[in-house]
Amino acid sequence: MKKIGILTSGGDAPGMNAAIRASVRTAIYRGLEVVGIKRGYDGLMDGDFIPMDSNSVSDIIQRGGTILKTSRSERYKTKDGMLDAKQKASEAGIEGLILIGGDGTFKGAREFSEISGINSIGIPGTIDNDLFGTDYTIGYDTALNTVIDAVDKIRDTASSHHRLFFVEVMGRDSGFIALNSGIAAGAEDILIPEEKTDITELIERLEAGRKRNKSSFIIIVAEGEEPGGAFELAKRVKEKYNFVETLVTIIGHMQRGGNPTCFDRILASRLGVAATEGLINGRINEMAGLINNEIVFTPFAKTRKHLLNNNEELLRMARMLSL
Ligand code: F6P
Repeated sequence: MKKIGILTSGGDAPGMNAAIRASVRTAIYRGLEVVGIKRGYDGLMDGDFIPMDSNSVSDIIQRGGTILKTSRSERYKTKDGMLDAKQKASEAGIEGLILIGGDGTFKGAREFSEISGINSIGIPGTIDNDLFGTDYTIGYDTALNTVIDAVDKIRDTASSHHRLFFVEVMGRDSGFIALNSGIAAGAEDILIPEEKTDITELIERLEAGRKRNKSSFIIIVAEGEEPGGAFELAKRVKEKYNFVETLVTIIGHMQRGGNPTCFDRILASRLGVAATEGLINGRINEMAGLINNEIVFTPFAKTRKHLLNNNEELLRMARMLSL
């Protein structure tokens, strides 16, 4: 293998740049040429390529977003899209791909390798932490820290005014961000898609807090498929139990931005090196992940959507500690 391409795809995540840096520098160190593919799979189909050297990844380890830009491509899911991508990659002499992204990013990769003969290696980059094959995805730790910073600030207002806040966080259809930020921010309750929300129980918990004269109440709500669900939930609670002023805050895309934490920079560097060396050593269509602090490779087919599985124990703990 002489030349590889690298792209970021799906939602941006803090630490993607650190992963690009590690991958590019490892590849160059190992004597490969590297092509940066702009705008994810859209750029692959359009031939939007730039040559990359060590200098192209200088001064990016600390930056959020992705210098390669990203997209959620519908066209790539079609046969014509894949054939365009194959043609552009072949013309550029790309023999292997490094893909940084989430579930959707790895989904089309196997099909593309069958159509094109070009194999890929994956690096988990998403704030959602919802992939099998790694304990942590790149960007998750930074997003958690962004959330607890925001919730700490909301707590100041909540306790000064004696208010109840429903704070909605991201996570698409998994509750990793909600559950762990809720524990770290000392939330009064945490509502996640993995557990059916019982309004009566929620009200009982709020009432227990009211009885012991709590000065503030924060409920962390994981977004559902559609953001904004916290408004509906707050409305349903207010209809039955309206004991303090109730407000809703949606943290939104703030969670995707910002400088990556130390943890995410190290994770991204380790996975960038491991993925690139894996590709060079002949690994095909697998994602590099970290499990129990060891590098582990998992076939793309098995990385699909990981939901929380220890939620009951953690929710029990969070609720007990916030009483
Ligand atoms: O997958 C990352 C994520 O931020 C999810 O948590 C969220 O549901 C989704 O992306 C939002 O995507 P977009 O930025 O395309 O609206």
